[in-house]
Amino acid sequence: MGNGIAHVFAQNDFSVSLVDINQEQLEKAVRSINKNLDRQIAKGAITEEIKKSTLANIVMQTDIGTGVKNASLVIEAATENEALKLKIFKQIDDAAPSDCILASNTSSISITKIASATRRAGSVIGMHFMNPVPVMKLVEVINGYATKKDVTHMVVDISKKLGKIPCVVNDYPGFIANRILMPMINEAIYSLYEGVAGVEEIDTVMKLGMAHPMGPLQLADFIGLDVCHAILQVLHNGFGNSKYAPCPLLTNMVAAGYLGIKSGEGFYSYKEGSKEMIVSERFRTD
Ligand SMILES: NC(=O)c1ccc[n+]([C@@H]2O[C@H](COP(=O)([O-])OP(=O)(O)OC[C@H]3O[C@@H](n4cnc5c(N)ncnc54)[C@H](O)[C@@H]3O)[C@@H](O)[C@H]2O)c1
Repeated sequence: MGNGIAHVFAQNDFSVSLVDINQEQLEKAVRSINKNLDRQIAKGAITEEIKKSTLANIVMQTDIGTGVKNASLVIEAATENEALKLKIFKQIDDAAPSDCILASNTSSISITKIASATRRAGSVIGMHFMNPVPVMKLVEVINGYATKKDVTHMVVDISKKLGKIPCVVNDYPGFIANRILMPMINEAIYSLYEGVAGVEEIDTVMKLGMAHPMGPLQLADFIGLDVCHAILQVLHNGFGNSKYAPCPLLTNMVAAGYLGIKSGEGFYSYKEGSKEMIVSERFRTD
């Protein structure tokens, strides 16, 4: 996500410091940005000059302090782990200029809690980009309990400058995107678990019947079943309502390491280099 966010800012003339503690991840990020810019050139969406200026707008850093010291906006997109994010926000708060806005790309961790790790809760906000960032139009802008109105306005304006469409929501578990998406995915998994229909049938009903570009089980594989499981737990714990409890089939698949595309198998099997949709052997009914 970090490389996608850096890409869209750099392409829109912002100077970007891309920070990761892992040098290999930074090298991987440059390769991804290059590949995605080449894809945009092939489609006629941008020119070679824009590719050059985009790459020239990005500098790589492995030290957070150096990376944020002159920033007016920091967007954190580190691993989805609350303790890690609290630690990172404390570091950023210590190193960034006092008027710098601090945003998180978190999918589910409370912005209000993240803000409490800083001395500038009013300037902390959620900027939830969707994957893949250069393609997806939405930015879910999440107001923490203490976020100041002018900070929200600035983040809305910046999102528009990136060519995105911001939607402002409040900070409650799952915000809006995942509060609505994850119960749908969980219900699809329950339908499979209870034998109501097979993988292909569930996905086809939702694709053709609701005009969704992708079925919920395929989408879960793309997001990562561990990520879906973790977000459902945030909803379950946050609201204390059993309707959000992850389906036992999902819990089993995650415990067994069947995580979707990233592990090679989830509801579908993913062969290296192939885009063919093959239902996992475990869920075949023939
Ligand atoms: N993947 C998605 O589809 C998606 C969509 C929307 C939002 N998000 C959110 O974006 C964030 C990142 O997700 P991702 O899928 O890109 O994760 P990822 O695990 O692929 O990447 C996280 C990066 O953070 C780096 N990192 C870890 N600790 C760090 C530290 N202390 N300082 C600097 N860098 C550190 C890691 O080296 C890694 O490169 C998460 O909060 C996630 O919830 C992800």
